[in-house]
Amino acid sequence: PITPVILCGGSGTRLWPLSRKSYPKQFVPLMGDETLFQASARRLSGGSDTVRFNAPLILTNADFRFIVTEQLHEVGIDPGAVLIEPEGRNTAPAILAAALHAQADDPDAILLVAPSDHVVPDVAAFHAAVAQGLGPVTEGDLVTFGITPAHAETAYGYLELAEAPQGTPVKLKRFVEKPDAQTAADMLAAGTYLWNAGIFLFRAADIIAAFHTHAPDLIAPVTQALEQAKPDLGFLRLAPEPWAGAQDISVDYAVMERADNLSVVPFAAGWSDLGGWDAVWRESGPDASGVVAGHNATAIDCTNTLLRTEDEGQQIVGIGLDNIMAVAMGDAVLVADMSRAQDVKRAVTALKDQG
Ligand code: GDD
Ligand code: MG
Repeated sequence: PITPVILCGGSGTRLWPLSRKSYPKQFVPLMGDETLFQASARRLSGGSDTVRFNAPLILTNADFRFIVTEQLHEVGIDPGAVLIEPEGRNTAPAILAAALHAQADDPDAILLVAPSDHVVPDVAAFHAAVAQGLGPVTEGDLVTFGITPAHAETAYGYLELAEAPQGTPVKLKRFVEKPDAQTAADMLAAGTYLWNAGIFLFRAADIIAAFHTHAPDLIAPVTQALEQAKPDLGFLRLAPEPWAGAQDISVDYAVMERADNLSVVPFAAGWSDLGGWDAVWRESGPDASGVVAGHNATAIDCTNTLLRTEDEGQQIVGIGLDNIMAVAMGDAVLVADMSRAQDVKRAVTALKDQG
């Protein structure tokens, strides 16, 4: 079986006011009754005819540890282990810690590293893609999952394919993390690139070897943080002092851009990282007028509009709106043009500056 590694670190400011530093987007019910974290954990549990999963290994920080265990409990999943990072050092140290931990249990461990804040509606198709990835994994490859690009996005990694995919995994020529706008436009036009979904499949031993080759400075601090880790109420707390010596860097820059043993499984069945309210609107299935009106929300003569309230006792009404997103909470209300979804993070910065 495969051991899922679920990353629960980030804070997701672009979905303010629902997503907060103290309660980020993966832990709130953004779509339906489940949280994104719960949906991710369920997607990576049990399995199907094609793949089987072990209990998940969760990486998070001290603030979220009880949210994690409570939300897992609600969906009936027992974690294999919950590793607590003393501070967020980005995905490279987190994934290395997960790999070292898993390898100590099982030298042949195969890991599926996944974010906790993505939407992948077709679970069977996802499992089939993971099963396909096991081929290159047994040959020692680090496997990525590729999404057909929809626009010249600069917030994603790009996967350059060595050849056109024929329904099977393809060798990767090059991994380009977060290109500038011009490079992103060129790669979109070239037609030989896919977006990196941010989900990875590999043997623990192979990713550890890749860290030794491409990011050797991480090995000592992360190994020590794990060796000196303290069990605490069922959590495993990584040791703060060595951990602080690990460079703050993502796995994409630390390893993926540098490795030459990469493969990609194209994944066409629907994926979103919900990188803004416009994405939530799109993924929530707008009606024929393009309206998404949630619980306690009423849209009158609106088009292409998202209306949400998160407060049980509150009603939200929109009249004659076009291209508007409005999200109301007890203590904050966001009203913005749909095209300005990416600027919501500026609101968070502005509010922080006011203290
Ligand atoms: N435990 C832990 N600790 N998790 C973390 C940390 C950390 O320090 N930092 C980030 N994460 C988690 C985030 O919560 C998220 O679930 C996942 O790791 C990826 O981190 P992001 O910060 O969201 O990365 P990104 O969106 O900028 O880029 C990645 O994802 C894109 C697709 O959404 C890259 O892999 C890109 O190449 C990719 O296209
Ligand atoms: Mg992300």
